[in-house]
Amino acid sequence: PPFTPFAERMPLPEVLKPVSTQGDFDVYELPMLAATNEIFPGVSTPVLTFGGQFIGPTIHARQGRAAKVTYINRLDRAATVHLHGGHVSSASDGFPMDLIEPGQSRVFEYPNQQPGASLWYHDHTHHMEAEHVYRGLAGLYLIEGDDEKELGLPSGTYDVPIVVRDGRFDEKGGMIFEPSPEPTMLHTNGRIQPYFPVAARKYRLRLLNTTLHRIIEVSLGGQELVQIASDGGLLAEPVSRTKITLTPGERAEVVVDFSRHEAGSHVLLTDARENEPIVRFDVTGTATDDSRVPDKLRALPALPKASNVRKVKFSMTADGTQFAINDKTFDHNRVDFRIKEGTTEIWEITNADTADGGTHGAIDHNFHMHLVPFRVLDRDGKAPLPGEQGLKDTILVSPGETVRVQATFSGFRGKYLYHCHIQEHSDIGMMATMEIV
Ligand code: C2O
Ligand code: CU
Repeated sequence: PPFTPFAERMPLPEVLKPVSTQGDFDVYELPMLAATNEIFPGVSTPVLTFGGQFIGPTIHARQGRAAKVTYINRLDRAATVHLHGGHVSSASDGFPMDLIEPGQSRVFEYPNQQPGASLWYHDHTHHMEAEHVYRGLAGLYLIEGDDEKELGLPSGTYDVPIVVRDGRFDEKGGMIFEPSPEPTMLHTNGRIQPYFPVAARKYRLRLLNTTLHRIIEVSLGGQELVQIASDGGLLAEPVSRTKITLTPGERAEVVVDFSRHEAGSHVLLTDARENEPIVRFDVTGTATDDSRVPDKLRALPALPKASNVRKVKFSMTADGTQFAINDKTFDHNRVDFRIKEGTTEIWEITNADTADGGTHGAIDHNFHMHLVPFRVLDRDGKAPLPGEQGLKDTILVSPGETVRVQATFSGFRGKYLYHCHIQEHSDIGMMATMEIV
């Protein structure tokens, strides 16, 4: 559908209110239902939602205070929900075959015994996850850490979530779902190329890439983005960047100081890879600002000695129709790795889909692990990328590259997934199971 760029204000996802508050936990209800959303102004696009909202309502959790969420399936199909980045029991992790049938509901428990971080919840239905998330089944889940208040980072109205998705649309605004390298258009917090008014002061921006397969390079046209957090929360110290690569599922938090711009000026946030607008910030006036970005944000946990090394290879199947991990496609009965609870392991993740593979060109993958965050040790023996020194749960693995990560598998036992988070790939095989024993 036709549209005028920067004519619509970027909405903010609603904040979900608890239905009740008990001693040490909050109770939420979140229905999944079909709805419509105006991605293009005046055009109503059928979507799948949490709570009727195309960007699901944000859950604001606090470190140390549990949340119990009842997901009610009012869709015409089975679905399930995974809390991406959550340290949760296997029963509440949203296993792809353990579905909530239409008309049924399920309570998932999130202990929030983990440092503050920007997580997100999304559908994880086997073979359907890509389409479900594409059509809208995703939202933010923010855990506020005990250590955050005293840091003095921009907060409240100056803490802004930016959820980037993509789509292909027919003339009536319907979303076309066609796993393919067809070009898609970005939309932000559910609007196509919106603007957002900001005061001339510092803002904390929480960026989440939930596109189908696009790797985006977030840029302010060469101006400084001070990265303060990644998937697993605050970095040890802020990192000055001009471009931040986000693969599907990844998060980055940045502080941008709009006081460097005069009132009336426009500052464009783009995907520099495709030179496509994400949102235009319109600097409208001044505001007081007592926020700051301290030199030290959060001490990272020590890296204990690893007792095991695993190898994970991403590649297309030989016939070029599916994606595999260690040459096998996903099978929920298959457990690839049995890991002793509490141990630390190094995983070597290799992307074998290089252009010289024969049947296809080079293919980017990324690696996501459920249950625990990991640290990036090195990329082809070289230092991790800027912004990758903190806790991560999703990372780019470029064609031909081997990335070594280290994780400690503590807290829960049971089966958990790891997979490529390019959902078109995980949907057709690039997913596997580990069991913590
Ligand atoms: Cu967002 Cu299995 O992950
Ligand atoms: Cu992949």
